[in-house]
This record gives sequence, structure tokens and C-alpha cells, in this order.
Amino acid sequence: MGTLTAEPELVVEVEGGGLHPEAETEPREGPLEPGKGTRVIAVANQKGGVGKSTTAVSLGAALAEAGHRVLVMDLDPQGNASTGLGIRHAARETTVYEVLSAEAPIGEAIVETAVPDLHAIPSTIALAGAEIELVSQFSREMRLAKALEPIRAGHFDFIILDCPPSLGLLTVNALAAADELLVPIQCEYYALEGLGQLLRNVRLVQQNLNPRLRLTGIVMTMFDRRTKLAEQVVAEVRRYFGPRVYDTVIPRTVRLSEAPGFGQPISQYDPSSIGARAYRWLAEEVVERPVEGEAVPLVGELPEVMQPPPPEPTARRRFKLFSRQQEEEL
Ligand SMILES: Nc1ncnc2c1ncn2[C@@H]1O[C@H](COP(=O)(O)OP(=O)(O)OP(=O)(O)O)[C@@H](O)[C@H]1O
Ligand SMILES: [Mg+2]
Repeated sequence: MGTLTAEPELVVEVEGGGLHPEAETEPREGPLEPGKGTRVIAVANQKGGVGKSTTAVSLGAALAEAGHRVLVMDLDPQGNASTGLGIRHAARETTVYEVLSAEAPIGEAIVETAVPDLHAIPSTIALAGAEIELVSQFSREMRLAKALEPIRAGHFDFIILDCPPSLGLLTVNALAAADELLVPIQCEYYALEGLGQLLRNVRLVQQNLNPRLRLTGIVMTMFDRRTKLAEQVVAEVRRYFGPRVYDTVIPRTVRLSEAPGFGQPISQYDPSSIGARAYRWLAEEVVERPVEGEAVPLVGELPEVMQPPPPEPTARRRFKLFSRQQEEEL
């Protein structure tokens, strides 16, 4: 393992809009209050741009607003979740990098966000270096699991790990530390691409590093109800994964794509939007869903590509048919 896809040029800077002015980014002071039990959820899919960071941020915020204590940990050197939560670059002093390389205790890296009860551990591009440095180190896959130990006892109800788009060491660390895996799948033609590989890796981690790990849920993202393909993809994924697919389907909306530019989760950027409501529904399902069952389902050989739907006659095609008919009549 260890394909590195996090190249420095992938760093996403916020253009315009600025970050949320109320984002409180000072390290949290004093001891964290103990709670009941923590659910550690890795949001992973090595396919890029499927909605992992959007889901980690929006779900984290929705859970916090529902009264849970939440920590979102940004395990991606791109830092998209950190940006989406409004954490300024200046406030990313102690990050996931220091935590993974054991240069700082985890408590020092936790910052508050503008959402009450929503905390974060930010990342910077330095994390790409950590992935390389870890390769030669002892117990390299278990670094995160070990780092989380002090806060596992229940400071938070949920710890959400936003994974990078690769199956490298950072994702393996997340899977080794998590109780649950949440996989966002984009409602598009290549939706299942690489999913078989992801599940095989999850099984390896489950067998060798972390027997607790369960695939709790698949969330379908960027659903565009104007296309037949989106509906077909949802039906196909449900056919393979059954009840593991959440009932909530996240729609493709402009508001969801705008929110990170303002450093706000959707629930703050536009609380009544359909995107905010969808993530609230997802949060309810996540809370209710039991963490039980088979570690990872045996799904056989997943198809990589969906069958395209029969082409619908477009206005242009109809026009062509009409003109041919006219020609024949002349
Ligand atoms: N439901 C949605 N509707 C519209 N835009 C969305 C939606 N979800 C995500 N996006 C946008 O799509 C892009 C990719 O989303 P996101 O960053 O969440 O994916 P990712 O899987 O974390 O990507 P990466 O693999 O690069 O980490 C972003 O610009 C985001 O704002
Ligand atoms: Mg991301």
C-alpha cells in the first residue's frame, strides 16, 4: 500500500468570501468533559471529489447541532475539511501532523469551531510529509489509533475522520482507528469505480489491525434528480448493499458547493436549504443506526461502471426527426 495522491499542487485555498468571522480557532483550554462512549467514524473513498469532506463537515455540524459533542479530524493534506469548518491557516499550528508524529498530545491540536460542541483537528500540507515519514516507522498503521486513546474514553460522542482520496497510510491509519466506515458514493456513471478495492482493503485492515471495524453506511451524494442515471445509480448501489445504504440521499445543490468558500458548514451557511436538511436527516440515521453485523459485506465483483440509460430524445434530436419527416413530405 502507500500510493500517494496528495501532491502539494492539490492544496485548495479559499478564494473570495473569506472565512467565517466567528470561527473560534484557539486551542481548547482545560480538560475535556468525559461522556459515555465515542463512535469513531472514518469517512473514506479513495475516489476523489465524491463528497467526503462535505459529508464530514456537514454531518459533524448536524450532529453537534442535535446536541452531540463532535470532533472532526482532517486527515487530508488538502485541508478541505479544515477550510470548510472556517479554521484559518494561521490557527493550524498544532495539526494532525504533530499528533501523528507524536510531537504533540492530541488535546493540544483540538480547536473550537463557530458551531457549539463542534471541534476540529486541522491539517496542513505538512501532512503529506507525514505519510512519507511514516513509511519507515514502527507500528506505522496504528499511529492514529494510539493518538486517539486518551480521548476515546468519551470526551466526544462522535469523532469523524475525513480521509484523503487514496488508500495510502493516512487512510489505513483512519481505518485502523475507526469503529465504523461511512462511504460517500457520488451518483454518477463511475460510482462504483474502486469500491471493490476499498472494501478489500477494509477487510485486510479488519483481519489484521482492527477487528472492530464495520461498514456502517453508504451515503449517496450529489444526486441530480433531473437525470435518469442518478436514480439508476442509487437503485444499483441499493441492490448490492441493501440496508447499508442510508435512506437519505444528498442532493447536488449550489448552496452545498458554496458553503466551504465561506468557511461555514451548510447548517450555518443556509440552515433551511435542502442540503442542510438532507445532512440533518443523515445525522438522525447515523445516530439511530446500530453498529452491528458482518464486518464487511461480501459483494463479489462489483461492476466498475453503471449501464447507461437509453438515450432520451433531446429537443435537438426531436427537431432533426421532425425535419426529416418534413423532408419526406416535400
Ligand atoms: N451535494 C453537493 N452538491 C454540490 N456540490 C457538492 C456536493 N457535495 C460536494 N460538493 C462539491 O464537490 C466538490 C468535491 O466535494 P468534496 O471536497 O466534499 O469531496 P471529497 O471526496 O472530499 O474530495 P477529495 O477526494 O478531493 O477529498 C467540492 O467542491 C464540494 O463543494
Ligand atoms: Mg476531501
